[in-house]
Amino acid sequence: MQSMRSIFLLLLANTTAGYLVPNPPGKYNVTLTTGTLVDYTRNGPCTATPTPRALMLSVFQPATCASTVPVSYMPNKTAEYQGPFLQTQFNISANLTPLFLEARLPVCLHDSSGCSPLDDGPILLLSPGYGIPRLYYSVIASAIASEGFTVITIDHPEDANIITYPDGHVVYNNGPSNPTSDVYTRYLYARVADASFIIDQLSNATAIAELLPQRGPRQFPTDRVAMLGHSLGGASAVIAAGQDRRLRGAIDWDGTLFGSLPPSGLSQPVLYMSEANATDPSWLAAWPQLKGPKLWVAVANTTHESFTDALTLLQAVGQNTAAFADLLGTIVPAELVRILAAYTTAWMNGAFTGKVGGPLLQGQEPERFPEVSTVMKDNF
Ligand SMILES: *[C@@H]1O[C@H](CO)[C@@H](O)[C@H](O)[C@H]1NC(C)=O
Ligand SMILES: *[C@@H]1O[C@H](CO)[C@@H](O)[C@H](O)[C@H]1NC(C)=O
Ligand SMILES: *[C@@H]1O[C@H](CO)[C@@H](O)[C@H](O)[C@H]1NC(C)=O
Ligand SMILES: *[C@@H]1O[C@H](CO)[C@@H](O)[C@H](O)[C@H]1NC(C)=O
Ligand SMILES: *[C@@H]1O[C@H](CO)[C@@H](O)[C@H](O)[C@H]1NC(C)=O
Ligand SMILES: *[C@@H]1O[C@H](CO)[C@@H](O)[C@H](O)[C@H]1NC(C)=O
Repeated sequence: MQSMRSIFLLLLANTTAGYLVPNPPGKYNVTLTTGTLVDYTRNGPCTATPTPRALMLSVFQPATCASTVPVSYMPNKTAEYQGPFLQTQFNISANLTPLFLEARLPVCLHDSSGCSPLDDGPILLLSPGYGIPRLYYSVIASAIASEGFTVITIDHPEDANIITYPDGHVVYNNGPSNPTSDVYTRYLYARVADASFIIDQLSNATAIAELLPQRGPRQFPTDRVAMLGHSLGGASAVIAAGQDRRLRGAIDWDGTLFGSLPPSGLSQPVLYMSEANATDPSWLAAWPQLKGPKLWVAVANTTHESFTDALTLLQAVGQNTAAFADLLGTIVPAELVRILAAYTTAWMNGAFTGKVGGPLLQGQEPERFPEVSTVMKDNF
């Protein structure tokens, strides 16, 4: 552990000017807008009194542009919170704060003359793991957006360990660090309601103009919206699809399911993507209730924590990721990003056109992503 820390700080010491993560791999560059949608009607999962629920969002939109600019990966306050948090969480001696503080995302600026956004692509809501901010998924979200999707990552108040708002005030997680399944379930249903609220607001021209000033007071179509997420966020996507038919599909990245599906089952297409050798009993139990196209793939050389930007950041800063193999797996980070983007876009395109299929999802392209294997598959 000690040697790991010294290697790490040495490398970060050389990057005080910040380091850039790779460009998203798809056909488009992306714009990034952050802001809030506020629900005045609901309490939080742990608040007894009505509290406006301010959802902090990152909106990644596909665009073509002549040049990109580096923007902060996380607000300083959020980044400074993550180092100590992960030290405790993972029991490591390295302080990862600089990893987050100094990362920069390459994005197109809306106001640059060379930037033309792709209007009204399909919309994917992306919900993070329990207790961590949406900001851990910006590289992955950019990669998916670069394939022509608008991707909205969500901070769920009282659940994300820290949310830093544009005016600088912060809200912390007020839940336990090791929740029981009852507590997870309560947080999950708050997330499910958040998803429906966001879809409602996509049709609220005033709210959209506040969130995306460059777009102005124009609604988004809500006939092509779907949800995905990691860990509790993935479970939330599946349960949300059962509650809100406007969600046309769901993808769960290694998230144990809590809560319940409708008695009649779930008709939308559901994709499970699991870590290397996962056999999640909750996924097996729910499988018969998935009535639409359904696929479970496992990604070799990954762990539960692989499904975030952490590996990409470590590699971008020049860290030997082997030191983190136990925690984050050994998969090449760019390969993992390509896998998540390829399966997500193939699955959601199928969900939106009503024709889930194609060689990748049918398992007919084993050479393309050798790490991915089919565990179970049905109804397509
Ligand atoms: C993205 O922007 C960069 C400039 O930073 C440019 O070189 C690249 O070609 C762009 N990619 C796409 C797909 O537009
Ligand atoms: C964030 O912290 C860096 C130093 O780590 C500093 O250079 C920068 O000005 C800070 N940004 C803001 C907005 O305070
Ligand atoms: C944390 O790591 C240290 C050193 O490897 C070990 O002695 C200790 O038992 C670990 N603590 C926990 C809670 O796992
Ligand atoms: C639409 O958004 C505005 C601005 O956030 C808000 O005041 C209003 O209550 C919203 N309307 C509905 C029906 O949610
Ligand atoms: C996962 O399964 C593979 C192949 O069966 C095996 O080589 C590997 O050690 C397993 N990994 C873990 C973490 O159990
Ligand atoms: C997992 O990683 C090892 C070591 O990098 C590699 O040899 C192996 O081919 C990988 N497994 C798969 C299925 O890609």
